[in-house]
Amino acid sequence: MRIGLLTGGGDCPGLNAVIRAIGRKGIVQYKDELIGLKNGWAGLMYLNHINLVRKNLSGILHLGGTILGSSRTNPEKEEGGYERAIANFKKLELDALIVIGGNDTLSVAQKMHEMGVPIVGVPKTIDNDICATDMTFGFDTAVSIATEAIDRLHTTAESHHRCMVVEVMGRHAGWIATYSGIAGGADFVLIPEEPCTVDDIIEVVKGRMARGKLFSIIVVAEGATLLEPGVIAQSREIDDFGNVRLGGIGDGLARVLEKRTGIESRAVVLGHVQRGGTPTAYDRVLGSKYGVAAIDMVHNGEFGMMTSLQGTKVRAVPILDGIKESKTVDKETYEVAKVFFE
Ligand code: F6P
Repeated sequence: MRIGLLTGGGDCPGLNAVIRAIGRKGIVQYKDELIGLKNGWAGLMYLNHINLVRKNLSGILHLGGTILGSSRTNPEKEEGGYERAIANFKKLELDALIVIGGNDTLSVAQKMHEMGVPIVGVPKTIDNDICATDMTFGFDTAVSIATEAIDRLHTTAESHHRCMVVEVMGRHAGWIATYSGIAGGADFVLIPEEPCTVDDIIEVVKGRMARGKLFSIIVVAEGATLLEPGVIAQSREIDDFGNVRLGGIGDGLARVLEKRTGIESRAVVLGHVQRGGTPTAYDRVLGSKYGVAAIDMVHNGEFGMMTSLQGTKVRAVPILDGIKESKTVDKETYEVAKVFFE
């Protein structure tokens, strides 16, 4: 078969493991021809592509990012964008397309599938907010990076008797904040799913002071909100998929905490550091499992489906089930983090 492959949306550690696995099984076992579309949907819309051969796939397993490049280009934003993408799919004489992406990229994949393109999806995001799969690859790496940062911030916070506010990624879901908060021993974790007041956080900080703990670590997801308006100043820039470019809650919170507790406070924004660099072993394994499953799904004709982790097994589920909403942090997990807010 002649199969197109693209990576769309924010990059994520483990993407190259998926590409390598698709390539190795596709080229070696199925004798497929693989066409790598560059920079997400832009590659299909503007015909920017490369032939993926074994040489391209060598030495990439441990590399962060994606050898295919990525973008947030959305065919929907261009008049006749879908028609153009479909015409190019035919022009390239592709038999199928494997789309590796998050909610936005997979929504386009679903639409294209409904328009008759044979598509298999692979869920990807450090945010872990895609439904119908237990976990997305990239999340484990992001949590490890954030945890290491929190560990480092602990010692400097303690030496200077400061309150450190660590802002991590997570637009609609606070998975990275909750997991790294638990792993790093955070004193408070603020996530979009569980808005609170500044007083809730101050109570914890003051409680610690009363016990002689003159420092605190507060982890906050970039998309979190406080119940009081006016504390957060966030950018209003919008990308092609209508997502607001977030950032700023950490800084706003640090200022308010300093003002209202008298404790010197600092904000640290981890930002894209969480998305860069080498994937953990877990993400390399999950990416490899997803890649092998995706190429098998193409050959089984399981179109309109995406790979999904269920326990330790990878299964095929409808893309529609994955993208219907954002998978948010469950109460049970957040309750674990909350035990340590005191
Ligand atoms: O990949 C998803 C994500 O990590 C979000 O948590 C974050 O808001 C967004 O990407 C930022 O991405 P970019 O700056 O590349 O648009």
